[in-house]
Amino acid sequence: MPDEQTGAQTMDEYIRGLPKAELHVHIEGTLEKDLMCALGERNGVTLPASCTDPDAEAAYHFDDLRAFLDLYYEGVAVLVTRQDFYDLTAAYVRRAHADGAQHVELFFDPQSHVPRGVPFGVVVEGIRGALVDAERELGVSSHLIMCFLRDQSPAGAMVTLEAARPYRHVIAGVGLDSAEAGHPPREFADVFRVAREAGFLTVAHAGEEGPAEYVTEALDLLHVARIDHGVRAADDPALVQRLARERIPLTMCPLSNQELQVTPDLAQHPLKRLLDAGVVVTANSDDPAYFGGYLAANYAAAQRALCLSRADLAALARNSITASWLPQARRVRLLHELDRYIRARS
Ligand code: ADE
Ligand code: ZN
Repeated sequence: MPDEQTGAQTMDEYIRGLPKAELHVHIEGTLEKDLMCALGERNGVTLPASCTDPDAEAAYHFDDLRAFLDLYYEGVAVLVTRQDFYDLTAAYVRRAHADGAQHVELFFDPQSHVPRGVPFGVVVEGIRGALVDAERELGVSSHLIMCFLRDQSPAGAMVTLEAARPYRHVIAGVGLDSAEAGHPPREFADVFRVAREAGFLTVAHAGEEGPAEYVTEALDLLHVARIDHGVRAADDPALVQRLARERIPLTMCPLSNQELQVTPDLAQHPLKRLLDAGVVVTANSDDPAYFGGYLAANYAAAQRALCLSRADLAALARNSITASWLPQARRVRLLHELDRYIRARS
């Protein structure tokens, strides 16, 4: 609601109204507790403790990435049927749309489903079905990015890549996620080479818990188009200059970094410093069901902690559209929409 006295938009309204893209969200990380418990019952799967524990209302708390991932992989066990993946994805896109997302690029983790007996096709077709319907009903466009779990073997990643080949037309790219420390990008250089040869675009989580060198490795050995997180890149001034010069986008996730103790004090988060240094920084939600907020909440948290101006917020939105994998015509259309939005408020 606009402020009743002045008619001015509040900061939250301004943020929600900005046309933007979400480029870093794990669909499994959008599994809200209510849906998790409902799907667990629907599928006769043993419910996670949080569904039956009366103290489960308390917010999630995580000491680090590993502690979060343990809970996250436990939660995904309720996802079994095509309809489950459809329902999960449809709920996420509705929320993203309410936050002003016009386009989403979302990760999925086949290696957390296929070994449980869920066929690769069930996962992809369920997610894809919801994305196609969301584009028709809400006008939100999308791309799918398949992630390899870096704490499993490169050989396992190669098997996953082969399983994805028949779905190449609906999977735009591949990424690298899960526990970072001790699992450097170089281990996956062959898999990423084969993926690129097959026509997949590439991204990788780097510099979340791992060092700045992992960001450099992801660029030099995996040849990624974007870095997911990249927080630790800020430790290396030469790397910051390179990111800015080569216009390599970072898909940063402020609430995730706060909740996983990467930057427990958001006021210390490098997002604003990197933006000011000319890096193509974007803001995203990562695993919003676990970290206390979706896309707009991440913009708002960064705004409050780092005193971002409306121009900074507009720059984040502009970067998200520029860094997306949208075809040129739609990208230009969204950038024009953003320009109109900004002009109408200046
Ligand atoms: N998978 C889901 N969320 C993740 C994160 N924040 N880092 C690495 N892998 C993940
Ligand atoms: Zn992530």
